[in-house]
Amino acid sequence: MDKVRLGKTDMLVSRVGLGAWQFSGDAWGAITYEQAKAVVAKAAEAGINFFDTAAVYGRGKSEEYLGRALKELGLRGHVYIATKIHGDWLRRADVLTSAENQRRRLGVDAIDLYQVHWPACWHNTPICETMKTLEELVDRGLVRYIGVSNFPVQLLDYARSCLSRVDIATSQNRYNLVEREADKELLPYLKREGIALIAWSPLAKGLLTGKYSAESPPTFEDVRRADPLFLPQNLRLVQPLIDELKRLAAAYGKTPAQIALNWLTRDPSVVPIPGAKTPQQAEENAGAAGWTLSEEDWRRLDALGREISQKITYVAW
Ligand SMILES: NC(=O)c1ccc[n+]([C@@H]2O[C@H](COP(=O)([O-])OP(=O)(O)OC[C@H]3O[C@@H](n4cnc5c(N)ncnc54)[C@H](OP(=O)(O)O)[C@@H]3O)[C@@H](O)[C@H]2O)c1
Repeated sequence: MDKVRLGKTDMLVSRVGLGAWQFSGDAWGAITYEQAKAVVAKAAEAGINFFDTAAVYGRGKSEEYLGRALKELGLRGHVYIATKIHGDWLRRADVLTSAENQRRRLGVDAIDLYQVHWPACWHNTPICETMKTLEELVDRGLVRYIGVSNFPVQLLDYARSCLSRVDIATSQNRYNLVEREADKELLPYLKREGIALIAWSPLAKGLLTGKYSAESPPTFEDVRRADPLFLPQNLRLVQPLIDELKRLAAAYGKTPAQIALNWLTRDPSVVPIPGAKTPQQAEENAGAAGWTLSEEDWRRLDALGREISQKITYVAW
């Protein structure tokens, strides 16, 4: 698979990565270790070398499954692992303790990319305390690069000012055809500063695969039950885009998911990390790379997604 340099790192990552939240066993439904291992194996076989997980996913289970699978498959040392520290654990002592636990669960000497999962919301931890501790972890060789996730641009910019020897390499944020907040100020900032955008929910939690609609509404028992994107009025709003994804999929001999991911990969600073519950999904998503939508098709899809994104409401009651 084509590779791209990830932001301010020396990591050449596959154009499409793999998100491992699906290995948590709770948020996305039950999953066994063997099922998770099969997803990792197929992803790697399809050329994916960039895996994203987090301490909070299944309270360490996703990290354990991913680390164990990579070891058993002989892939450790051949792929890059990004993980995240819980946003409530940002005091110096907690960062140091969690980094040790996470290295152990992943079975690595150094974490390739260590991201702050979300800013301290109610703990009032000074941002510079966290950032300086992350810098210390880099100095000690326990972490190779640092990143943030879900930071508004002003806080990200301030967090960078706390650092003296390293910089923030990546920013992980929700970004897909119909959830476009990053377009407004974050993405322009990241592109200007050479920081990669790691796009989470690049398939809008499965919505952009075209298998859910207002007519056949999803009956989720998972994290999507509470996601306002799946409210009936939003499903109706998104339908014209789903229709367009299906039309393009037929024209290009691809799937709607591959079209939606390919739209993201046009920008070299954006790296999508779709989650997969099955080896087939991982393989299909890897197939979003290696070809390009025509300029005209890309622009039409882009405009349609933007128009719909502005009408979507997250207010559920
Ligand atoms: N930093 C953060 O705060 C944050 C937040 C969320 C996620 N993330 C990361 O981003 C990754 C991806 O985001 P996400 O899991 O929220 O959403 P996503 O990647 O947009 O959607 C994943 C879901 O879509 C469905 N799917 C995936 N590929 C498919 C295919 N080819 N065909 C049909 N269905 C397919 C699967 O669910 P079904 O089959 O059940 O439909 C899968 O669980 C996560 O794994 C995690 O690593 C980070």
